[in-house]
Amino acid sequence: MSEPLELQGRHIVLGMSGGIACFKSAELVRELQRQGATVQVVMTEAATQFITPVTMQALSNRNVYTHQWDTREPNAMAHINLTRGADAVLVAPASADFMAKLAQGRADELLSLLCLARPIERCPLLLAPAMNREMWAHPATQRNLAQLRADGTHILGPAAGDQACGEVGDGRMLEAQELCAEMVAFFQPKHLAGKRLLITAGPTFEAIDPVRGITNLSSGKMGFAIARAAQEAGAEVTLVAGPVSLPTPRHVKRIDVRSALQMHAAVLPLAPRHDVFVATAAVADWRPAECGTQKIKKDGSGRAPSIPMTENPDILADVAKLPGRPYCVGFAAESHELARHAREKRQRKNVPLIVGNIGPATFGQDDNALLLVDEHGERELPHAAKLSLARALVAEIAQRLGRA
Ligand code: CTP
Repeated sequence: MSEPLELQGRHIVLGMSGGIACFKSAELVRELQRQGATVQVVMTEAATQFITPVTMQALSNRNVYTHQWDTREPNAMAHINLTRGADAVLVAPASADFMAKLAQGRADELLSLLCLARPIERCPLLLAPAMNREMWAHPATQRNLAQLRADGTHILGPAAGDQACGEVGDGRMLEAQELCAEMVAFFQPKHLAGKRLLITAGPTFEAIDPVRGITNLSSGKMGFAIARAAQEAGAEVTLVAGPVSLPTPRHVKRIDVRSALQMHAAVLPLAPRHDVFVATAAVADWRPAECGTQKIKKDGSGRAPSIPMTENPDILADVAKLPGRPYCVGFAAESHELARHAREKRQRKNVPLIVGNIGPATFGQDDNALLLVDEHGERELPHAAKLSLARALVAEIAQRLGRA
């Protein structure tokens, strides 16, 4: 099952002011469209020095607007018409000069004019600053930035790194994919604003000797999707991840661990500082009692070595025992009798919510189906992409936090 188009039905006015980062805006049009959005480009005169309106028209498949005296609109009011059906205005790149202008509420050309004339409650304004690091750090720019934030403008980035001028520092515009991800996140309902979530994800690896170990087929995808969904819903998220090679979701703090003991040691001190703990990790139940420093060699007898095992601590159950514990959500990966096992696990681990899924059917896949078991009974979240399920689960958790 493919991921849903994240910006389906959204109409975005993409404003471009002058800066070398204009070349990234061409790709940004494509990225937004790939996610289902329609894009209306509006350029300042300075932006047209960096990339032509013809390029932006061809990519966006719409007329590009560059000045306020454009007579193509029947009422000659492009500055009004362009934002009335729009879900957001994104200015990328936003130059230092353009930000200064917005901060003062000036409107001497089409783009600043339409930013000022947009319906402020219905059509949010987002800026992706792009400028030299000295310009970014300048007190005047920082003052304008503070004013823009106070006026309700959302600022995306900027990133730090190599700049076109050869200097290195803050002020690079985010990449097209990053900006598109920011837009997707922006439109998610903020169910978890102000909440702190701690999430475990992935398998653990229990070493037998320096080159071997015991692990399982968990890919970490569900836990990473929940981390992303929770962050997009406004939460501050810490993700404690076993050995997986997935990219860290944007704005999520990630702590990498290998074994169950390391995961336990990372989670327990952090848990009391969080509102919610979601245990998606497939933690190994046992570990080799000892891990030597040398590789175990065959002794020629034809007999396999016996490896004494010892039980790992139960991270979820231990968090649930903490005084002032966070709201605990456990996962139950089962091969059969999902509902019964999930109910029993909920009791045994003493947690308010268990999310059941069929382990062999979901490990490594991009989709899943979930069964939520709480004190009121059971509720199915039917088969869907993991990110869609993660968003639904986040909404369910938020609802329960509201009731708690
Ligand atoms: N869990 C944990 N620490 C462990 C084992 C499990 O935190 N040492 C958490 C998992 O992250 C999951 C839940 O407990 O949220 C249930 O995990 P699961 O492996 O399905 O259950 P087990 O407790 O291992 O029970 P069983 O092996 O009997 O199914």
